[in-house]
Amino acid sequence: MTETPATTVDDCRIINLEHHPHSYGTLTVAQNSNALPFAIKRIYYIYDIPTNSTRGGHSHFTEQCILTAVGGCFDVSVFDGKNKKTFTLKRPFEGLYIPPGIWRTMENFSSGCIVLVLSSIKFDEKDYVRDMDHFTELKQNTFDKHL
Ligand code: TYD
Repeated sequence: MTETPATTVDDCRIINLEHHPHSYGTLTVAQNSNALPFAIKRIYYIYDIPTNSTRGGHSHFTEQCILTAVGGCFDVSVFDGKNKKTFTLKRPFEGLYIPPGIWRTMENFSSGCIVLVLSSIKFDEKDYVRDMDHFTELKQNTFDKHL
């Protein structure tokens, strides 16, 4: 693929997932519905994360995703080639929506942190941009096109 969408960090947003707090515990639901910006094709979760670890460090051509701290907390920085924003995820019902064409980095993981990811596509390494220079070049071309 040679083009990446003209998305910006302002397209990244926190989505409050449906949740049901009770005296006996809280239940959170993610299901395909109008409450989500895409249909879920895959879920995966990341755990046993060393607290000083940095994960992510890539963008996607088409994948949309929602990241959630189902246990503990962590920071996600998003970058669109021009601007950067950082979100702290610390509640199991808060999901960060990231559209395609956004570079993301995850760090400052608390001990025992578990990251749940809802994804719009099945795993496809060809959907990744893992090189920052390539990413900024792709985004620059996109911005130039929209001038
Ligand atoms: P990666 O997406 O780079 O993880 P993160 O963004 O959390 O740092 O994936 C790490 C490794 O796992 C990489 O070798 C690809 C592999 N992987 C799969 O095989 N299937 C999957 O669904 C995912 C998300 C990753």
